[in-house]
Amino acid sequence: MKNSYFDKDYTMDELVKKYELELEYRINFENQINQITEALTHYQENNIDQALAKLGITTDMDRVYIFEFKEELNIMDNTYEWCAEGITPQKDYLSDLESSMFPWWMDNLKENKAIVVNDVEKIPPVGTNEQNILKEQSIKSVLVIPLFNEELIGFMGFDDTRSTREWNLADIELLNAAGNLIISYWDKKNKTDELKEKNRELEETVNTIIQTLANISIERDPYTKRHSVRVESIASKMAEKLGFDSETVRIIRIASLLHDVGKVNVPKSILFKPGPLTELEYEMVKKHSEMGYEIISNIKLPEKIKDIVLQHHEKNDGSGYPNNLKADEILIEAKIVAVADVFESMISHRSYRPAHDVSTAAKFLKDNRGNLFDKHVVDILIEMVENKEIDILN
Ligand SMILES: [Fe+2]
Repeated sequence: MKNSYFDKDYTMDELVKKYELELEYRINFENQINQITEALTHYQENNIDQALAKLGITTDMDRVYIFEFKEELNIMDNTYEWCAEGITPQKDYLSDLESSMFPWWMDNLKENKAIVVNDVEKIPPVGTNEQNILKEQSIKSVLVIPLFNEELIGFMGFDDTRSTREWNLADIELLNAAGNLIISYWDKKNKTDELKEKNRELEETVNTIIQTLANISIERDPYTKRHSVRVESIASKMAEKLGFDSETVRIIRIASLLHDVGKVNVPKSILFKPGPLTELEYEMVKKHSEMGYEIISNIKLPEKIKDIVLQHHEKNDGSGYPNNLKADEILIEAKIVAVADVFESMISHRSYRPAHDVSTAAKFLKDNRGNLFDKHVVDILIEMVENKEIDILN
């Protein structure tokens, strides 16, 4: 007994075989789409290329590509492409094309309609332009899926250069679904890129503010010129050697640059006084850590940076200022900046005394290891001095 299936007669066995093959094809196709869904839910640079390759292999096409529109749909660029083996890539020649060359396609795409061309030779007269272009590229069959996200942003195309083919509705539906996946992936990617750009801008702004503040204190006091920069270098090396993570090292760097910013409020006559300070003058100098904290309190910086600036003159035994904090009450980061600060100050020239040599500074820290300064922090600095890991000549 013969059965009519479309315009061809089949035996029952042939018909069962045909159904089975179609079922297998469909299951495979749906599996591929599921894999693409899975791949596109994770943001990675080359995800779209991978998705196009999968679609191309699954549909057994020669070329799968994406065009993106710009300039109010007037111009289009081929931005992604996958080619089967032996097919010459076209992408590099297909940028800045005028959309007006594809009037039939554009009318359909604008209405979010797929364009199904089973046989290029049978394109209706409305698509003569497109027919000529497709024939020039030896394309026999093509499917074009709009990429529509509230408005048209591009399209995905499937070329067959070897034979005509019968696209069925179910395939088109699935490829439409793949197009929607690509759109939502794109959206996610653009949002991620925007966020990255904003973070980068914010980082730049914060760096400029930090640099400006650091410069203010440097400009005012020639003896502490480069002091902050050298404290930054020593303290960050110490933090790295102590095994702190990169974010903590970054916090220590910024705090080091800003630690003396409060000195802008100390009169120059006191800062540059060639002799010893009176008790009152010393009290005024001691205000600089609180003042520094105040100055940066309104900047959107990690709180820890502000606390390090506030605590950089606290001492282990509670004899420091401004809050007489003891041992564990002081942030380890502040203890690191404190040791780097004292060491750098001692080996530098000051208005009221010449520079000490490195061994004197190291001895002072060793003698006060545990009472004024944290033991481990002193140890790491001494180790760095002994290994000549600190550049103290500049
Ligand atoms: Fe200070």
